[in-house]
Amino acid sequence: MERGKDLAKAANLIRGGKLVAIPTETVYGLAADGTNVDAVAGIFSAKKRPFFDPLILHFYDINDALPYVHSVPDIWYLLTKTFSPGPVTYVLPRSDKVPDLVTSGLDTVGVRFPRHPLTRELLAMLDVPLAAPSANRFGYISPTKPEHIEGQFTNEIDYILDGGVCDLGVESTILDLTTDRVKVLRKGSLSIESLSSIIGYIPEMAAVSSSRPSAPGNIDVHYAPSKPLYVVDFQTLELPENAALLAFGNNADHLLPAKRIQLSEKACTKEAATNFFAALHTLDADDNVDLIYCETFPDLELGPALNDRLTRAGREV
Ligand code: TXA
Ligand code: MG
Repeated sequence: MERGKDLAKAANLIRGGKLVAIPTETVYGLAADGTNVDAVAGIFSAKKRPFFDPLILHFYDINDALPYVHSVPDIWYLLTKTFSPGPVTYVLPRSDKVPDLVTSGLDTVGVRFPRHPLTRELLAMLDVPLAAPSANRFGYISPTKPEHIEGQFTNEIDYILDGGVCDLGVESTILDLTTDRVKVLRKGSLSIESLSSIIGYIPEMAAVSSSRPSAPGNIDVHYAPSKPLYVVDFQTLELPENAALLAFGNNADHLLPAKRIQLSEKACTKEAATNFFAALHTLDADDNVDLIYCETFPDLELGPALNDRLTRAGREV
C-alpha cells in the first residue's frame, strides 16, 4: 500500500473508482467517490462493514453539499457558520443524488466538512463528494495516523494520503437536524458544551439500541482492541502481570503496571482524546501486554465522547 502527499494521484484514483485513505482532523477516513456505487461497495467490502451501516459524505463546503440534501433547516446554516469545516456530521434529508448504498436505504444522509488542509484540497479538486467511514476494519480501533491503517489493511486500499497525525483523535459529533430540536446521535470531537452555547439548549442524546442503532457506530462492540480492555476503579484495582494502564492525570500514580501510557498529564479530556486511539493501537501491538485497564473520564468537554468509546470498546470486569 503506497503512502504519500500526491494530491493529483489521490484525485485520479478517486475518479477511477479506487479507495484512498484520507486524513481528517478527527480520524483517517477510507474514501471513495460517493456517487459511484461500485466504489462505495468497495469501502464496505474492504472494511468488512455490514451494509446496514450508512456512510457519511464529505464535502468542501455547503454549496457543494446543497445538491445532495433537501429541505435544509435554518439551524444548519448557523451551525456550519460556527463549526464547519470541523468535527461535526449533520444528518439531513437527502436528495436522490445520493446512492441508496451510501445511506443504507435511509432517507437521510450524513454530511461533513472536514478541516484537514490536504483533504480540503483534494475535495476542491474533485467534483464529487467523498464517502468515507473511519479507515479501520469494522469494530476495530479507529486510525489516527497512517501506520494504524497499514497495520489493518494490505492491498484493499490503493493509496494513503499522508496528512500526519490527526489533530483531534476522536470522530466527529453526529447531529440529527431532521426534527425541530437538534439531537446528538454520536458524541464526538465537538463537545456538548460548545454545541449548547450556539443552539441555546442542551440537546437530547438519541436513545441507542444495538439492534436498531440510530448511528450504527453506536453498535455495542466497537472501537475495540483485540486484547481485553477493562473499565475499572484504579483505587481498588489489583494489577495482574502483563497489564497496561491508560493513565489520566495522576489517577494511576499509585500503581506499577507492566506498561503505562499517559493520556494527559494535566488531566485534559481534549488531550486524552487526541491520544486515546493511538494508545490502544500501541498496546494492542505490544507483546508484553495481555490486557488493558482504564478509568472512566470526567463528565465534561470530551469526557463523555471518550466514555462512550470506552463503553463500547471495553468489557465488564
Ligand atoms: O470523524 C468522522 O466522522 C470520521 C471521519 C473519517 O470523517 N468518519 C466516521 O465515519 O467516523 P464512520 O462511518 O466510522 O462513522 C459514521 C457514523 C456511522 O456510525 C454511521 O452509522 C452514522 O455515522 N451515519 C451515517 N449516516 C447516517 C444517517 N443518515 N443517519 C444516522 N447515522 C448515520
Ligand atoms: Mg468508525
